[in-house]
Amino acid sequence: MNFQIKTNEGYEAAYRQSIEQPEQFWDDVAKEYQWQQPWSKTLTWNFEEPNVKWFEGGKLNITENCLDRHLEKNGTKTALIWEPNDPKEPFLKFTYEELHSRVCIMANILKGMGIKKGDRVCIYLPMIPELSFAVLACARIGAIHSVVFAGFSVNAVADRIQDSGCEYCITSDGLNRGAKQIPIKSVVDEAVESCPTIKKVLVINRINWPVEMKEGRDFWYHIERTKVSDDCPAEEMDSEDPLFILYTSGSTGKPKGVVHTCAGYMVYSGYTFSNVFQYQENEVYWCTADVGWVTGHSYLIYGPLLNGATSLMFEGIPTFPDPGRFWQVIDKHRVNIFYTAPTAIRSLMAAGIDHVLAYSLHSLRVLGSVGEPINEEAWHWYHTHVGKGKCPIVDTWWQTETGGIMISALAGISELIPAHAGLPLPGIQPILVNNDGTEIIGNNVEGHLCIKFPWPSIIRTTWGDHERCRINYFSTYKNLYFTGDGARREANGMYRIIGRVDDVINVSGHRFGTAEIENAINQNKKVVESAVVGFPHPIKGQGIYAYVILLAPTDTPNHMRDEIVETVAEHIGRIAKPDKIQFVSALPKTRSGKIMRRILRKVADGELETLGDTSTLLDPLVVDEIIKGRL
Ligand code: PRX
Repeated sequence: MNFQIKTNEGYEAAYRQSIEQPEQFWDDVAKEYQWQQPWSKTLTWNFEEPNVKWFEGGKLNITENCLDRHLEKNGTKTALIWEPNDPKEPFLKFTYEELHSRVCIMANILKGMGIKKGDRVCIYLPMIPELSFAVLACARIGAIHSVVFAGFSVNAVADRIQDSGCEYCITSDGLNRGAKQIPIKSVVDEAVESCPTIKKVLVINRINWPVEMKEGRDFWYHIERTKVSDDCPAEEMDSEDPLFILYTSGSTGKPKGVVHTCAGYMVYSGYTFSNVFQYQENEVYWCTADVGWVTGHSYLIYGPLLNGATSLMFEGIPTFPDPGRFWQVIDKHRVNIFYTAPTAIRSLMAAGIDHVLAYSLHSLRVLGSVGEPINEEAWHWYHTHVGKGKCPIVDTWWQTETGGIMISALAGISELIPAHAGLPLPGIQPILVNNDGTEIIGNNVEGHLCIKFPWPSIIRTTWGDHERCRINYFSTYKNLYFTGDGARREANGMYRIIGRVDDVINVSGHRFGTAEIENAINQNKKVVESAVVGFPHPIKGQGIYAYVILLAPTDTPNHMRDEIVETVAEHIGRIAKPDKIQFVSALPKTRSGKIMRRILRKVADGELETLGDTSTLLDPLVVDEIIKGRL
């Protein structure tokens, strides 16, 4: 598309215009897309309610922009390459024509099941092509997809279905994960028992796992697809109609359903994909994120397809059959752009250099990082051994709520400093504030990162509870969107993200609220109370440290720890299991009953010299016991 910035001067000019005339700027970007009806008002906004509307009056369907628009010129170009978990199984390729046809078939199946515009559909699938078909099929018919990562537990799936009132679910018999096969239809079956809204379930056969199909409720995809045509006109959507809900954790116990809308999300995800990665015609692009997270939505499915790119989807894990798998896949498919998370880089770094050196990796042109701060050691390893010193690394800072990349270098254009996200993208107006919300001016400063002007893919609401959206993001600081992150602005104006300043832990690039994990731990009948904090972890970025008070002391602490891990696995999923569990007889609380997490964090970090003032605690002696029992 014609909005790709080519030079640093081009970036500066675009940035300037985006600040001085934001509406004009986004009008020009939006005109590059295909609309069924042009918009009449570019932007309406206030951050008080909040109420943000982009491209009002416009009608469109994002799948026409992802698929139909490319058919004439690029119908035979590969849209999707699918690499299976097992390298011995054949990979698959889908051209734009084939993807269009598969999406329309899926859309017709969904229509046949009774799904209409505005209905919510829970998608609980592994990384198989049908996941992309399902997401796009929902968008095609105007249904709102809510993708739930296939590693979440029964309870987590049920919570998300209930919160969004999903009436339909798309799942598979099971999934492949390295050498293991894991059934997942059974998870949906169990979740649905407490979700009376669910009317129908579509099941994809991936691993031939025996499943129970409930008559009238469950349908096989491979049977239904033989009954429908591959012609499905795209539903006409208003710019501000919801496109999807994606649940993410915050500082409260219950995950929030972040809502993104059709036009703004499309305009911004497509614009940022093109500019950050500097995608060139015929390049192969690979984002390793699961579609269960926002990165998979914006930069595996929507962003690349909006730009007519070739996007690779990988079913497996980085260490199967060995820790050279990523590099093998890059050589096999001649990947040019590779976008992954610091956790993956650190774990592959720990597996030894030989796995990387076994592959040429000469196709690579651009590397990306996302999800958590990348430490300098990992940055240099990635740059030297994967990028062979010649590939720029874009360290992209953004969030589920922002819909697309907010602060990042533009590959090959911007100056790079290891471990710095860099400068804001056009349209993004970051500011740093101190605790009382006063703006921190100048450079070489540190503060809470906020954004002061709307961009097209800003969160619109939290599903079913707009007030929650206001309180979480727009009430901490007046007239600002608060990110929850702390950041430094360096002498040259570049941003370096420090990490969360709220009660959110970022484990391997996945967000969990401390309260969410505490709630799960407290479900164990032998637990009285718990407090969870993050601590620095060499691979995961942050690990989970839980302080737990038991009803009665235990003689078998390791057994009890396993039990608590199981409780968390049951209530959230294995990805949220605590790394360390320390049993304590009390927690450090103030006289008003508030847990002093600062102390717990310092103990977990081993920073015992700088615990600070403990005199306001109800019982300062508790701290000594906690220090003594530190793991
Ligand atoms: O703390 C920041 C961190 O991840 C949080 C957002 O998490 P989530 O909504 O799950 O989205 C992850 C993928 C976009 C942020 O508040 N984060 C994300 N990217 C970076 C980052 N921290 C530092 N550097 C990054 N590049």
